[in-house]
Amino acid sequence: MLGAQLIDGKAIAADIRRELKEEISRLSTQGVIPGLTVVLVGDDSASQTYVRSKQRACAEVGIRSEVKTLAKDTPQAELIALIEELNQDPQVHGILVQLPLPKHMDSDAVVRVIDPAKDVDGFHPVNVGSLWTGLSGQGFVPCTPAGIMELLHRTGIEPTGLDAVVIGRSNIVGKPMAALLLQSNATVSICHSRTRGLKDYCLHADILVVAIGQARFIKADWIKPGAVVIDVGMNRVDGVLCGDVDEAARDVAGYITPVPGGVGPMTIAQLLRNTVIAAHRTV
Ligand code: GUN
Repeated sequence: MLGAQLIDGKAIAADIRRELKEEISRLSTQGVIPGLTVVLVGDDSASQTYVRSKQRACAEVGIRSEVKTLAKDTPQAELIALIEELNQDPQVHGILVQLPLPKHMDSDAVVRVIDPAKDVDGFHPVNVGSLWTGLSGQGFVPCTPAGIMELLHRTGIEPTGLDAVVIGRSNIVGKPMAALLLQSNATVSICHSRTRGLKDYCLHADILVVAIGQARFIKADWIKPGAVVIDVGMNRVDGVLCGDVDEAARDVAGYITPVPGGVGPMTIAQLLRNTVIAAHRTV
């Protein structure tokens, strides 16, 4: 059988960064340099790695980025005071508080303090509400699902009328993904760890988005032949990075994202784009 077409997120993200770089140089002629501040609390090594990648990507396209690092035992009130300061700073167009936060903090309460107009993660309830009411053009859409929609669009995949199945119901990926696919006229099912008959849902999916965080959980015989498979997983097994979908699914799917090099680079590209959008709205 012919293999699936691999969706090259790395190449598509590079195209987006090129486009953004041009847009940022146009913005700078209007006297605006987009600025992103990332707040990192504690010393989680995965978070440190993500934050470094974000900084590198900002520098590449010409976004002014800054990381505010707070100690693990910082009182929540201190973090909130910092966010309030950033809300007032006109040089800061985007604010991102890296998650997860230390256990003594309430991340929902912290996210609510971010000015929705600077919430480039799209996690503030005002932005979540805009997304679900179809007003996402006015708010911010979370970066991973927004990046996935861009992958579909640039691969020429039109969701209208298709059966889409999203596995995972997180606020970061699963729920906003479902909202975006619904807005693009797909018929959407959201599955999760308690779903009965998960394999049957998968077999029905024309577009299958998998974000469950378990290595190679979805097998080749769970995939409808020719389906579009989007693998959001990022698992390390014996030192090797792999997704939530077994590689053998490539023999069955029509299109599939590799891990690494699929969804991951798109998430960061979308963060850059959200920051540029935030800066544009201030002009
Ligand atoms: N931690 C894992 N993914 C994300 C993300 O998209 N945004 C933030 N702020 N933290 C994360």
